[in-house]
Amino acid sequence: LKRNFSSTTTLNNIVKNVTVIGGGLMGSGIAQVSAQAGQNVTVVDVNPDVLKKTEASIQTSITRVAKKLHKDDTAAAKKFIEESLSRVKYSPDAQKAVEQADLVVEAIVENLDLKHDLFKRLDEAAPAKTLFASNTSSLSIGEIASVTKRKDRFGGLHFFNPVPVMRLLEVVRIPETTDDTYEAMMAWGKAIGKTCITCKDTPGFVVNRLLVPYMAEAMKMLERGDASAEDIDIAMKLGAGYPMGPFELADYTGLDTGLFIMDGWHKKFPDNELFNPPEIQRKLVKEGKLGRKTGEGYYKYTK
Ligand code: 3HC
Repeated sequence: LKRNFSSTTTLNNIVKNVTVIGGGLMGSGIAQVSAQAGQNVTVVDVNPDVLKKTEASIQTSITRVAKKLHKDDTAAAKKFIEESLSRVKYSPDAQKAVEQADLVVEAIVENLDLKHDLFKRLDEAAPAKTLFASNTSSLSIGEIASVTKRKDRFGGLHFFNPVPVMRLLEVVRIPETTDDTYEAMMAWGKAIGKTCITCKDTPGFVVNRLLVPYMAEAMKMLERGDASAEDIDIAMKLGAGYPMGPFELADYTGLDTGLFIMDGWHKKFPDNELFNPPEIQRKLVKEGKLGRKTGEGYYKYTK
């Protein structure tokens, strides 16, 4: 499978200036792919320590991308890195950072109150033309957008981890999203090298709606003692062609993240058995075993 690190796609869409709110894993990736495609990017995070990490993580990841794009040409790789990085600015001030934005992509923590507070402020500060999007993986786009006066210029733009590698972008419409907004978001996704699919504003959209219950079923299989985590992972890689098995993926995305999504959906849709969180996941999270980031989840990691 040839992964798409395209940096040459022409930007024939209205978005030139992007503001990404949140300098975590997803925010850094979104900022990086936008800059690689020639956009002017501002990454916002209230925490200066996070912003420093954002900068370092973009630098590391873009170096990997440059190596892949310009294998035998170190000068071209260097130019690609320098030019891309020169397009990224860092700011602690969200309101100021949206003043020139054509598109705002929010990638802060999955907390509806915090997202509401943010979007209320951004709605006041951004010009009327600015499109708003959330990269939420589990909350409702309509509920997030409800506090703004620009629901017609609001949509979901859901990326996948690792953003520079995963080729998919889910573009989510709410009933109020106009065709112009939707088309601009699709064009932007294409311009930054992603393949876009469209989904209604439903829990988990397409990928997480299928992936989360699948991972939960794997965990319940482990709880029952039907097979080991290792064997389930091998089975899904070799028998179904997944790049990672469900437990490797759970460790990669973070057990706390997975549990948070399931708990939220279970509370909101108690009758849907597919959203029942497995006990084993809750136990590991309680023990602080959150996956790769803490050195242990379903597996132990040495580095
Ligand atoms: N930045 C830049 N390049 C990266 C990278 C990063 N962060 N991570 C990996 N790469 C590149 C590597 O440099 C490597 O390039 P090469 O082919 O030129 O050597 C290539 O990607 C493959 O990486 P690795 O050799 O290190 O390892 P793998 O071949 O195992 O691939 C993987 C790693 C891409 C993560 C692959 O295992 C995979 O696709 N896993 C599944 C990921 C997945 O399902 N993500 C979705 C999660 S759900 C989600 O994100 C939704 C959210 O809402 C929670």
